[in-house]
Amino acid sequence: MHSSEQIEMALKRALRHCESPATPPGLRAAIRHAVFPGGARLRPHLCLSVAAACGADTQLDAQADVAAAIELMHCGSLVHDDLPCFDDAAVRRGRPSVHSAFGEELAVLTGDALIVLAFEVIAGARLSPVLVPRLVRCIARGVGAGGGLVAGQAWESEQSVGLRTYHKAKTGALFEAGARAGALVSGAGASLTESWGKFGARLGEAYQVADDLRDTLDDETSLGKPVGQDMAHDRPNACLTLGIDGALERLRALLDQAIESMPSCARPEQVIDWVEGFGARLYPRAVRVHGPSANGKPIADLRA
Ligand code: IPE
Ligand code: IPE
Ligand code: MG
Ligand code: MG
Repeated sequence: MHSSEQIEMALKRALRHCESPATPPGLRAAIRHAVFPGGARLRPHLCLSVAAACGADTQLDAQADVAAAIELMHCGSLVHDDLPCFDDAAVRRGRPSVHSAFGEELAVLTGDALIVLAFEVIAGARLSPVLVPRLVRCIARGVGAGGGLVAGQAWESEQSVGLRTYHKAKTGALFEAGARAGALVSGAGASLTESWGKFGARLGEAYQVADDLRDTLDDETSLGKPVGQDMAHDRPNACLTLGIDGALERLRALLDQAIESMPSCARPEQVIDWVEGFGARLYPRAVRVHGPSANGKPIADLRA
């Protein structure tokens, strides 16, 4: 089965926890709206690609459950991020954001419910018992106050923050958790898991620089979410800090560094495919020029 299908099935399995009469119908509908239809599902695909690279059998439901837990965290973060007290965004994935469709109270609770659900999914996955606390810690670090995405959002309430600190926490940390979780489920040891984590963190940081560029240069119809948000809310943004050329340069450097830091592995194909697809979607439409490379060579050469 293709990994996209596995991820969607694992997300459907997860949402069954919220589909009994014990879940009020409004909350149930808001949770569905937050998760389906999804966006690019980048983080769970990264997780499964790393697991495959490390030699795991990615057809197993347990691995897709772990990938789905990462995506549930991401979906919850988007619901909270769009709230009026954060980015006040009316549109997400080309549709009304959760608070626009269901109201603020249910949006707060939907984000909360998705965070809790992610841990419930890990607890219920058919994993070796030694892996469960490791995965819980890995995902909690990606999301929590100690440098995870909650810390990233909280930097917005401070007087100032460096761009890299902000990007690493708000976006890099969950990509790092996705890559680490992929390594963990495949039975990788601490040092290899750490190396995949660094690879994921750089990709996540690159992704946020790309998002800043798109926020500055793209339009709402093509992105499916409002643009010009960072300027409007006085958020640190790579284009505002570095200029557009500087942001493009930072993006290229981060992507190249990520690829150069990719640990050697038995089965790199799936992760190379993922990075190729990821690289292709990073640039705003006006500047699609530079494919991902490693030491100046196209990433496809790594297959040889
Ligand atoms: C949006 O993430 C939030 C950022 C970190 C920029 P995605 O662009 O991965 O969102 P979806 O899931 O594809 O909609
Ligand atoms: C997203 O930051 C990071 C999250 C933790 C949700 P942004 O605010 O830049 O993402 P978009 O542009 O709303 O997707
Ligand atoms: Mg935000
Ligand atoms: Mg936002």
